[in-house]
Amino acid sequence: MRAALIVGASGDIGQAVAKKLAHDGWSLYLHYFEHEQVVTSQIATFQAAYPNQDFIPLQYDLTDDRHLDDLTAQLFSLDAVIFAAGMTYYHLFKDTTVSELTTLMRVHLLTPMALLTKIEHKLAQSGHGRVVFIGSVYGGAGSAMEVAYSTVKGAQSAFAKAYAQEVASLGITVNVVAPGAVTTKMNTKMFDQATLTKVREEIPAARFATPQDISYYVTMLVAKDAAYLTGQTLYVTGGWRI
Ligand SMILES: NC(=O)c1ccc[n+]([C@@H]2O[C@H](COP(=O)([O-])OP(=O)(O)OC[C@H]3O[C@@H](n4cnc5c(N)ncnc54)[C@H](OP(=O)(O)O)[C@@H]3O)[C@@H](O)[C@H]2O)c1
Repeated sequence: MRAALIVGASGDIGQAVAKKLAHDGWSLYLHYFEHEQVVTSQIATFQAAYPNQDFIPLQYDLTDDRHLDDLTAQLFSLDAVIFAAGMTYYHLFKDTTVSELTTLMRVHLLTPMALLTKIEHKLAQSGHGRVVFIGSVYGGAGSAMEVAYSTVKGAQSAFAKAYAQEVASLGITVNVVAPGAVTTKMNTKMFDQATLTKVREEIPAARFATPQDISYYVTMLVAKDAAYLTGQTLYVTGGWRI
């Protein structure tokens, strides 16, 4: 049975990925930061529906890279890791604090990269190891008011491109699924309805993505047969900002 670690399984996109992978027969390590209850209740549902698969909760603050050995000690075999955690700040770059820069870089980039150094051997043992980052269209197109966020998202794509070349011979693929605007709390918490409507009007597909629109491509990339696509960033934006 294949096992995946979903970092940010308590988020809206992470939950959609978990639901689809559980349905597809995967055992899951479900990471959360502050919202344990989301993961606990998802695990209860999964255990009832898929009693032969394992579902294990893991708590970790990605701003802290000092205790990664405690996290990796809880992982047994591992075939895929999906990085679906993150947050953003919305203001001019000149008003960005060093603390915000540090948080963005740690959560989106540094800690995931440090974690990969510790689990690469497990992904290699799989023979079909898969790494998927949830990036962003802003990593390619950039965005005013989210300059630092755009920077770390672009860096995820740069990392995937380089790391993919290093681990291809181990059977590991490394890709990024880069959404446009998705109907998740990351957006609804930060923007009012008028702003969200204005964004929707810019999207050629005339709607925000659902988390399921994004999880579809994640599950595609972690399949055993998806062995020859690597180092890529897949923009899933409904035609927006491409
Ligand atoms: N929503 C969009 O429009 C959109 C567009 C493009 C890209 N993305 C990207 O998609 C990914 C998922 O976003 P989402 O929309 O699903 O957001 P979300 O629902 O707000 O979920 C955010 C996730 O990140 C976790 N997280 C936040 N701070 C953390 C920390 N310090 N340590 C560990 N985990 C932390 C949260 O854990 P807890 O809830 O347990 O605290 C949660 O699992 C992010 O990387 C985001 O940049 C989103």
